[in-house]
Formats: sequence, C-alpha cells, structure tokens
Amino acid sequence: MEADSIRKSALEEIKKTSSVQELEKIRIKYLGRKGELALALRSLKDLSIEKRREVGPKLQALKRELEELLNKNQRLEVRGQETKKIDLTAPGKRVERGHLHPLTVAEKEIRKIFLAMNFSVVEGPEVETEYYNFDALNFPPHHPAREMHDTIWLKQPGKVDPRQRLLLRTHVSGVQVRHLQKHEPPFQIIYSGRCFRFEATDVTHEANFHQLEGMMTGKNITLANFKFVVETFLRKYLGNDIDFRYRPAYFPFVEPGMEVIVKYRGKWLEMMGAGMVHPHVFEYAGYNPRDYQGFAFGMGLDRIAMVKYKIPDVRLFYSGDLRFIKQF
Ligand code: FA5
Repeated sequence: MEADSIRKSALEEIKKTSSVQELEKIRIKYLGRKGELALALRSLKDLSIEKRREVGPKLQALKRELEELLNKNQRLEVRGQETKKIDLTAPGKRVERGHLHPLTVAEKEIRKIFLAMNFSVVEGPEVETEYYNFDALNFPPHHPAREMHDTIWLKQPGKVDPRQRLLLRTHVSGVQVRHLQKHEPPFQIIYSGRCFRFEATDVTHEANFHQLEGMMTGKNITLANFKFVVETFLRKYLGNDIDFRYRPAYFPFVEPGMEVIVKYRGKWLEMMGAGMVHPHVFEYAGYNPRDYQGFAFGMGLDRIAMVKYKIPDVRLFYSGDLRFIKQF
C-alpha cells in the first residue's frame, strides 16, 4: 500500500475509535512489527532506487505522525476515562482538621491569667549551662540538691569550663537569673517550656515534661503578694472550689521555700515549688539583696493540665494517641 492510502485509512480508523483498547489495536495494525507500515518499509527493497528515495522518507514521516497521534489520543482517552469516574453527586471527603495540643491550650490559658495580672512572658533555652541551671540558683557544688534533679548531660568534646557544661534543663528556673542579669527589678515575668529529667516514669512523672514558672521582684515584695497571685491564679484556672495547701519544702534558690499541693482524685498532688527569692540569687545576678525582694513559683504544666482536664496519667499527653488528643 502507498503511504497516502495507509495514512488515510489509519486516520479514519482513529477518528472512529471510542476506547483505549481500540486505539491499541490500531497501533498494532499500523505500527506493529508486522503492521502495515512495517510491511511497506520492508517492501522498499523491491523498488527502484529513485522510487525508494521518494517513498522511503514519506513512510518514515508517516510513522512518526501516527506514533505521535496515537500517543496523544491514548492520553486523551485515559483522561476521558478518569473524568468519567468522578461522581459529582457523591458527598465530599471530610478533611481532618488538626487542633492545638491540650498542653498548648493549657499554657495559653494560664498565660492569659498572668498577663491580666500584669506579668510579661519571657523565655530561655532548653539546652542550658550548668551555671544557669544550678550554680547561679545557689545549688552549691556537690550538694545533694543537684542529685534531686536527675540531669541529662550533653557530650562536649575537649575540656570544658565546668560552668559552661551543657545539659538539658531540669527546670525552667535558669530564666530567673538570665532575666535578672539583664533587667533591673521591679518586674513580673512568667516563662515556660520543656524540661528533662532522667527519671523512671509513672502516672505523675515523665522524663520530658513542662513547667511554667513565674517571678515577681521589686521593693517590699512579701509572701502576702505571692499568696495573692498564686491563689488568684489557682481559683481562676481550676475553679473556686479547688482544694489546695502549702507545705514547707527546700529549694536552694528560695528562702523560705514551699510547695503548693492540690487535692486531686482524693489525694494530694504536688503542683508547684515556690518561695521568696534567696538573697544569693540577687547577688549572683549582680544586685544588693538588701535592695530587692521577690517571689518565684514553678508549676508542672502537665500536672495542672491533668487536674484541669481530669486526666489520670501524665504519659497520655505524649502518647500520640489520637483517641486521647481528639477529646480536646
Ligand atoms: C522545681 O523544679 C523548681 N524549679 C520549682 C520552683 C520554682 C521552686 C521557683 C521555687 C521557686 P520541682 O522539682 O519540685 O521544683 O518541680 C516543680 C514542679 O514540676 C513539680 O511540683 C511538678 O508539678 C512538676 N514536675 C517535676 N518533675 C516532674 C516530672 N518528672 N514529670 C512531671 N512533672 C514534674
């Protein structure tokens, strides 16, 4: 067959097709190994040289044309089939929307209460130096109080100045000193974030937990100011019927020191450490402790969120279990 007639019949057949399968048949018929074009090309050898020069390029051009056409048609056809699958009347797929983690919600809500009492929010690093986490907070070297915090130390190459030894902060109290060094009292601040302790976990302990701490400094600040602030906060956040107590406790950076415990599920749960800022802390930050006083308190954010949302096990916060998360 001549190139022109092959072309004519191929184009007609392509026009008439209505499916990918039919197109494939046409492809085999014309472009296959034993197809029309292959036969025509093979029979070129029987032609005279002149004729061959005339017909050869025509057949090659036709081959390219058909290849391209069939490819394009196949693509269109496939796309056509896909569109056919769309059922416009089907109900839409529900897009899952995320939301804030309950600890983030708790942090935001607590911040709001303190902002309303004229506190400002500041922050500090999670990787802290031994100096800010312990020394400047009046933890004497080799004092057992350091052992109370099961510290996770970072590996550092070479010889390191002991004060610059790096650790994952065991509490957020290092921010007290960082802020005091840069800002002269009076001020009232809160700061919060992740803390780390190398501890066995249980229903109220995690190795990675959160604290929210506050500090108020100035002249003539007394324990009465502390009681007002902390009680206002507890009642606003946990409700007026909250049952809480103070009990004496030791923290090297406060004097006197205490803990606030809250009744939860019939038991007393330790909620925060607190006290009047120790004179040494003012000294470490470069002030005369006779000039200023202050109080500080540090609560377990996870603990208080447990009480707020009636959660039985602190570890649920970090479980990544959507059945838990979706309840908030
Ligand atoms: C401190 O960390 C002191 N920095 C608190 C403080 C601040 C005292 C300012 C005085 C002045 P403590 O180790 O007790 O103290 O921790 C404070 C609170 O963090 C605890 O009351 C508890 O609510 C929470 N907490 C402590 N360890 C864990 C843990 N492993 N998992 C969950 N919460 C914890």
